[in-house]
Order: sequence, then structure tokens, then C-alpha cells
Amino acid sequence: MTRLAPIDIKDIPNNLKTYDMELELKTGANLIQIAKNAAHAGNEVDVKISKTKAAVIPVTSGLGLISGFAEAVVAILTHIGVKAKKTNGNDVSGLAEAVRKKADLIFMADDDKFIAVNLNTQYIVDNSEATGRAYVTALDLASGSVQARSVLVIGVGKVGFAAIGELVKREATILIYDINEQKMEYVKKIFKDRVKIFHSVKEAMNYTNLVILAAPSKKIIHAGMITNNVIISAPAIPLGLTENALIRLPSRNLIHDPLQLGVATMALEAIVGIL
Ligand SMILES: NC(=O)c1ccc[n+]([C@@H]2O[C@H](COP(=O)([O-])OP(=O)(O)OC[C@H]3O[C@@H](n4cnc5c(N)ncnc54)[C@H](O)[C@@H]3O)[C@@H](O)[C@H]2O)c1
Repeated sequence: MTRLAPIDIKDIPNNLKTYDMELELKTGANLIQIAKNAAHAGNEVDVKISKTKAAVIPVTSGLGLISGFAEAVVAILTHIGVKAKKTNGNDVSGLAEAVRKKADLIFMADDDKFIAVNLNTQYIVDNSEATGRAYVTALDLASGSVQARSVLVIGVGKVGFAAIGELVKREATILIYDINEQKMEYVKKIFKDRVKIFHSVKEAMNYTNLVILAAPSKKIIHAGMITNNVIISAPAIPLGLTENALIRLPSRNLIHDPLQLGVATMALEAIVGIL
């Protein structure tokens, strides 16, 4: 997990309306609709969402607090209709406060892990996994459907692995590329004939125009790989497109944010408890 910088997230609370409009232009759905779709939840969950209280607990361990992180998570949760608050206390005090105030969900992150826990059901959602599923859902909507189409997953770590699981559910054909051969072999062992291994992004992109970019490296996708109708759904931070690739790719064909899709999907999955 790349550590977010305050500059990556400081504008999130003020820009959620614009963010939603842009997301709708790209996918035909706004943040809450994508999160519900990713969590395989129907409209019956709306009442549950509006009754859900969430506590976002700042965690000081490791490299410490990221300024604006808890506030950004609170803003995203509030935007999708959850009653969310940052706890006054940090760490264990914050956890005690959340339980005392009868929060239904808690959100907490350290340097390695970001989780949502439903305190009523003990259901835990990992941000990396929810993010993988969220970006597949967004790609599914933006492309009209991934069913029976080839989708390239670049980077098969925690996010990429969860993305592959969701692509299997949505009946896509899955191409994978990772610089780590062993990780690709592991994925092949789990998903067998559902995945096809490639040894370069360039070669794989000859077979598809749909990409999940989940590798934390710069300059993975070059301008020459951006052909007509390429759609890139990219949780990766940093964003692995060269400057020229970014110029060539129409902005409506790029789905990318530092927190919003992942956090909204964590919340919905924690509320409905379905994987
Ligand atoms: N936008 C969000 O909300 C959000 C949420 C969680 C994670 N992320 C980002 O998603 C990315 C993946 O996170 P993760 O938790 O799966 O990380 P991870 O470390 O578990 O997996 C990353 C994978 O990418 C591979 N990789 C690295 N460089 C590569 C390259 N140049 N080409 C191909 N593969 C390469 C690694 O071998 C590894 O398998 C990170 O950039 C992370 O910061 C974003």
C-alpha cells in the first residue's frame, strides 16, 4: 500500500459533488451506485445506510497520522449517506469512544492495513480488497459490461487479486501481468484457466482495451499502448501512465481516485456483509 500524502487527499471533502458528476459521465453511475453494485447490494440497503453510524479512528502508530486522512474518510462516508464522525481520541481511546457511542462501523488504518469493521456483525472489510472490487465494477459500467471480454490486470498484489476475483464473478476473460513471476504463478494456481499470463504489458494490450492498473510504479503504460477505446480503471498510486499516455487517453476513459471508490465500497460491504 503506497502511503498517501496530505496533498493527495486534501481536496476530497470539498470536491465530492464534482467528483460524483465526473464519475457519472465516465460510468453512468455515481459513487453510492458503484459502491452498491460492487457490494452486490440492491436499493433495499438504502434505509440501512441512512441508519448506520460510523466512527473514523485516527491511528498514530508507525509513520503516524496523515493530515486530512480521517477527515477525507468522514466526508466520503457522509457523502454516501452514512452518519460518520472522527473520534476525538486516537488509537485505543478512539476505539473505546467509538464503542461507547454505539458506532455500527469503525474505520481505522495504519501503514499496512486499512479496515472497516461492522461492530454488530464482526464483519471486516479490507480496503485493498474492496478497492479491487470497486474498480472492476466501475470498469464494468464504463465499458458496458466486462462479461465475455478480456480484461488485463496489471499488478496482482492485494488489490489486483481481489479485482481478479470480481472479474471471475462478472465472467470476464482475465489477462495478467506482474513483474513478479511467482505472484503470477500463484494467481494461475488459484484461478487456473480463468487467467492467462503475459510477460509484458505491450503484448497483453494487443488483446484488450480494458485495463485494471493495480501496480504501484510509474510509466507502466506508454502513449503507444493507448489505442482507440482503451479504458483504464486505475487504483494504483502513483498512476502508472507516462505524461504522453495521459495526454492521449481521453479523461473520460480513466477512472482513478486516491480513496473515494475504495472507502465507499468498504462501507457498503461492511453494511451488507456480502462478498
Ligand atoms: N486508490 C485507492 O483507493 C487505493 C486503495 C488501495 C491501494 N491502492 C494502490 O493500489 C496499488 C496496489 O496496491 P496493493 O495493496 O495491491 O499492493 P501490493 O504491493 O500488494 O501489490 C502490488 C503488485 O504490483 C506489482 N508490481 C510492482 N511494480 C510493477 C510493475 N512495474 N509492473 C507490474 N507489476 C508491478 C508487484 O509485484 C505486486 O504484485 C498501490 O499503488 C496502492 O497504493 C489504491
